[in-house]
Amino acid sequence: MRSYQEAFSPYWHPVAFSHELKERPLAARLLETELVVWRTGSGVAATQRYCAHRGADLCGGQLTEEGLRCGFHGWTYGRDGRCVRVPSQPGVPIPARAALTSFRAVERYGLVWVCLAPEPAAPLPEWPELEDGSVATVPLPRLDWNTSAGRMIEIVLDVAHLSWVHEGTFGNPQQQEVPPYEVERSAAGVRAQISYPALSPAIGGMPPKVDRTTLSYEVFFPFAARLSFKPTIFYAHTVYAIASPWSEEKMQCFYFASYHPRLRNHFPDMFVKSELAILEQDRLIAEAQRPRAHPLDFSSEVHVRADRLPLEYRRGLIAIRTGHPVDAPTPD
Ligand code: FES
Ligand SMILES: [Fe+2]
Repeated sequence: MRSYQEAFSPYWHPVAFSHELKERPLAARLLETELVVWRTGSGVAATQRYCAHRGADLCGGQLTEEGLRCGFHGWTYGRDGRCVRVPSQPGVPIPARAALTSFRAVERYGLVWVCLAPEPAAPLPEWPELEDGSVATVPLPRLDWNTSAGRMIEIVLDVAHLSWVHEGTFGNPQQQEVPPYEVERSAAGVRAQISYPALSPAIGGMPPKVDRTTLSYEVFFPFAARLSFKPTIFYAHTVYAIASPWSEEKMQCFYFASYHPRLRNHFPDMFVKSELAILEQDRLIAEAQRPRAHPLDFSSEVHVRADRLPLEYRRGLIAIRTGHPVDAPTPD
């Protein structure tokens, strides 16, 4: 079994929303690695956070034409991490070891993604709708939860919890049974679709209404989920949840929605408010689950048919962790 860090390093993980990365370098953390990310003339760069000279925090540095300049003695690093200037001794060759470990970094879908391994094991998720101008997007503040990335994504995929955990937001306590559903799996991820009688909350003295909603789930391994809501009453929209692991027991999730641009005046406020209420219901459950680390075996928890989607997801993560394909148990 590979270590958690070793298993998940060769994947792209978001470390910041694009809108958070402005003209100053930004601290980031991924798989127990402290990073600094910054904008360059041609894209984004990610390197180790602390200066090779005397360990100063490069997040306090300055961006110059040449690269990232440390605030302690002015050593300056290019996007590949190599030191290009040592102001205390101009005209003298720069020591070869004067370099920061640098990592692959790209900006896409309004996020800055980093891969800690030299070669990514999988491409970024494919979400073409976010690039062709057909939808508008709205982000939530980063979700900073004390749980593992896998547990967080499993909550997003958990079909049976809707009627329990989300009572009062959209869950329908009358609908406890989970009808059978199909799960499609591929090397890249898992998908499923269900129909759910969501219950809109009572507004302005009106009784709550059942809003028959088609939920389409799709995950790209390891931690990127897209969930589309096609209701009959409320607005159709899609949420994207990408959990970014700080460690095996701690993650931040980058969460945003896409919606029809015509709804720009109504949707964002309504979405942010209702989604934060829904996610708070999930957080209370997720942070109290034990163990915090996502159990990457099948035997330590019990699986029933309603758990097919999270189970197939877990199967994919176990394969990544162990380095070979695994069979999921047949749920009881
Ligand atoms: S510690 Fe960064 S330049 Fe000296
Ligand atoms: Fe939930």
